Order: sequence, then C-alpha cells, then structure tokens
Amino acid sequence: MHNIDELINKIKDTQTLLGLEQVRMELLGKSGLITNQFKELASLSGQEKITKGQKINEIKTNAESLLSARKKELQEIDLKESLAKETIDISLPHSKIKKGSISPVSKAIEEMLHILSRYNFTFSEGPNIEDDWYNFTALNIDENHPSRAMHDTFYLNNALLRTHTSPVQIRHMENNKPPFRFIAPGRVYRADYDATHSPMFHQIEGVVIDKNINFAHLKGFLMEILKNFFEDSEIEVIFRPSFFPFTTPSAEVDIVTKEFSKPLEVLGCGMIHPNVLKNVNIDPNEYQGFAFGLGVERFAMLKYGISDLRKFFEGDTRWMQHYNFSAFDLPNFVGGLCK
Ligand code: PHE
Repeated sequence: MHNIDELINKIKDTQTLLGLEQVRMELLGKSGLITNQFKELASLSGQEKITKGQKINEIKTNAESLLSARKKELQEIDLKESLAKETIDISLPHSKIKKGSISPVSKAIEEMLHILSRYNFTFSEGPNIEDDWYNFTALNIDENHPSRAMHDTFYLNNALLRTHTSPVQIRHMENNKPPFRFIAPGRVYRADYDATHSPMFHQIEGVVIDKNINFAHLKGFLMEILKNFFEDSEIEVIFRPSFFPFTTPSAEVDIVTKEFSKPLEVLGCGMIHPNVLKNVNIDPNEYQGFAFGLGVERFAMLKYGISDLRKFFEGDTRWMQHYNFSAFDLPNFVGGLCK
C-alpha cells in the first residue's frame, strides 16, 4: 500500500487540474494502483478475499472523496483568477464605445432588393421550417431523385429546414394569380461547412412569369442586376449550363474577380419547368417564366473582398467594425448603392 498512500497524500498539494487528473489516473485509471489491487482479489478466496476487498473499497472511497474535494478547490481558484483577469471597466467614457454597424449580409440584401425594386417585383416570404412537398416534391424533385442527397438536408420530425428559397415559389404561386414578378429573400440551411459554405446562409429567390418570357429575358435581366450590384459594367460573368429539376434549361452563374483565384458561383437559374407550373395549377402552354436563386454571402464576399464565408457568422464585433456599414446608410437613387 506504500505507493498508494504516497499518492493519496499528494492530492491535497496538487496545484493544477491537469496534475490532479494524472494522480487520479495513477490511482483509479484502467491500470491504476487501486484498480490493480481489485484485480488481484480474483486470486484470493474465503475470508481473506472479504477482508482485503473491504479494505481496498475504503481506500478507494477515501481517495475519491479527497480527489473531488481538491478538484472543487482548484476549480474555484481557476474561476477567481479568470474573473480577476477578465474584468471590464464599466466606468469607461462613452466615446470609447464603438457605434453599431450592420452585417455585410444585411448590406448586400438591402443593395440587391434596392436594385430589384426598380423592376417592380413584389415581396414574398415563406417559413424556414418546410415540409417535403414545398422543398422538394412540388419543385419536381421526386422522392428518389439524387438531388435530394445533394442538398445535405437537415431533417426534423416530419419536417425539414428549407435547403433553398425555391419553396417560396410554390407558396406564392399557390396563393396568387399569374402574371408574377416576385422576390423572396431569406435564410436557408444545408449540412455543409468550409470557406465558401456555411450551414445557414441567405438566398434571394426571384420569379418572373408571363405569357411570352424566354431565356433571353432571363440572361438580359441577370446581366443588368449583376452589373448594377457590382457597379461595374465590364464585370466578367460566366453562364454555365447546369441542371435543376425545377428549371429547364438551367444555368449557373460564376463571377470572375482578381481577388479570388477561381470563378465563384453566385446563383442558379433557369426557365421554370412545366411540371412545377402544373403543380400549382398554372397551364404551362399559356404561361412561362424564369426563376433564379442567388447566394447573398457569395455576392457580399465578391463585392466587399471577404475571402472566408465563415467570418459572417462568428459574431466578432471587430470584424463588423472593419466593414462598418451604417444601418442608416440605405441605398437610394440620390446617394447610390453604397458609400
Ligand atoms: N434553388 C437553387 C439552389 O439553391 C437555385 C435556383 C433557384 C435554381 C431558382 C434555379 C431557379 O441551388
């Protein structure tokens, strides 16, 4: 028992939580001294086994209570130290207090909505918690369609977090009569996380439906809003053929800038699929149109030179202060989009 006693005596003098954990492991860990004693009991029998067993149990209980008492003391010391180090001087003069600023995401949404408002779009919204019908089925994505897997959906009981703003297309069209011109900004969710993806991000959905809408309208319109948003009539835009079950033909749009080493995808678009129109009781032979869904963070990254999308959601006030977008600096026809 010699070593065990020594270790137990050490408990009260241990100065760090890490050190204490080491002592605990040496005594009670998988091959700790006390644990080993228990293992040795197996080879004994009769009265000897009972007496020795009781003795080891007492030692164990004692060690445990000393360990937990010392742990509490050390935790309290730690807490006191960090409270002393991290005090805030609440008597500092107000001139030191930074004024609030809005997120680059809000700024990009405001600018984009301002541009879109020139085209007489109405505004629509839908819930963040959607069901399968609105997020997928009504958009011509049937149950076994591989693109369901592509969406990295967060599922809830009998519901899901919408993976895009396209379900608002369905909700709006169900409740209104064509022709349509509406936009739907909002949050969307996908299980994805790296420098250009975050599990929650923002999209702006747009829909134009009338009797003679074709792909040239779509392309011309998108070129206009991109030039306007980036305030650059020479902006390098790549229209890339793509696939979405709810549009045909479909395209994705990449923007090329000096700051980013490769083209950054900013939106998906296409002519609305006849099946989607049928799902909301609109005759595809009478009405056609286009839809687009643009990624707000991507637009903000390109316009304001932000290379890591995760920064948007870290809540670092110094980062916000760096961009310093005032809540009162709304885009307008006189002052322009931004200062
Ligand atoms: N919903 C698509 C996405 O999130 C984008 C899109 C919207 C594509 C509308 C076409 C039409 O990827």
